[in-house]
Amino acid sequence: MLVRVTPGVEAHTHEYVMTGQEDTKFGFSLATGAADEAVSRLRSLPGVELAGAHAHVGSQIFRLDAFAREVAAMVPFVTRHLLGECCIGGGLGVAYLNDEAAPSMAEWATVVRSAFADAELPPGVRVTAEPGRSIVATAGITLYRVGTVKELPGLRTYVAVDGGMSDNPRPVLYGSGYEAFLPREPLSPRAMVVRVVGKHCESGDVLVEAAHVPADLAVGDVLATPVTGAYGYAMASNYNRLPRPAVLFVRGGQARLVLRRETTADMLALEV
Ligand SMILES: Cc1ncc(COP(=O)(O)O)c(C=O)c1O
Repeated sequence: MLVRVTPGVEAHTHEYVMTGQEDTKFGFSLATGAADEAVSRLRSLPGVELAGAHAHVGSQIFRLDAFAREVAAMVPFVTRHLLGECCIGGGLGVAYLNDEAAPSMAEWATVVRSAFADAELPPGVRVTAEPGRSIVATAGITLYRVGTVKELPGLRTYVAVDGGMSDNPRPVLYGSGYEAFLPREPLSPRAMVVRVVGKHCESGDVLVEAAHVPADLAVGDVLATPVTGAYGYAMASNYNRLPRPAVLFVRGGQARLVLRRETTADMLALEV
């Protein structure tokens, strides 16, 4: 086992995905001594092999100093308890929006390595990480079909699609932003600003608050939101009993179905 410690690091990210600060449900606090106590208790339990310590300071972290502070907090603990592994958790951010710039894994690794060196990690301690979404987020895009376009002159234009908060709850949960484009014209100027909404019976079912899309977007178009390879299908639900969409892998112009679309029969499968 790795013991999950709370390093007392406040990362710059949405408060719902901050996990390393003192006031959190996650982990045993380093500051209060709860983590030390957890090590003693774990070591006294038969059947438990304590391999090391682990922390995670949050998701969607763009500022690498949070990881350096996490390492600085962890190393004395790992050293004190002669632990064999130090896992500095995950949370490297990915760019969802055009104006966002995420650090590369190489930049992240440079900061983490030098933080471990500065903190004088004892030789032989294994360093591990959980890079999470940064591995796969940009590998996926979600495709929607435009069902209606509602223009409210002087107010805004709504573009309703055949999905919504059931296939991607992130905008509703955290106000997350996405870009949107038309795969039929991926490079055309996106001069029109619209609100992309889902098909659920809630005004809050918004996928993209202010999406820049081509001005000729029309009913029947396929609209894509990129960077949904992580926490897309994994966070999808049958909210409102909407079946989940299919997942396809595409390579070299060939598509392969890896998860089939859910059916009405699937939705009724548990009824007895
Ligand atoms: C313990 C732990 N490790 C790694 C991750 C991955 O984080 P992310 O995919 O947000 O980078 C999470 C996400 O919640 C986590 O809880």
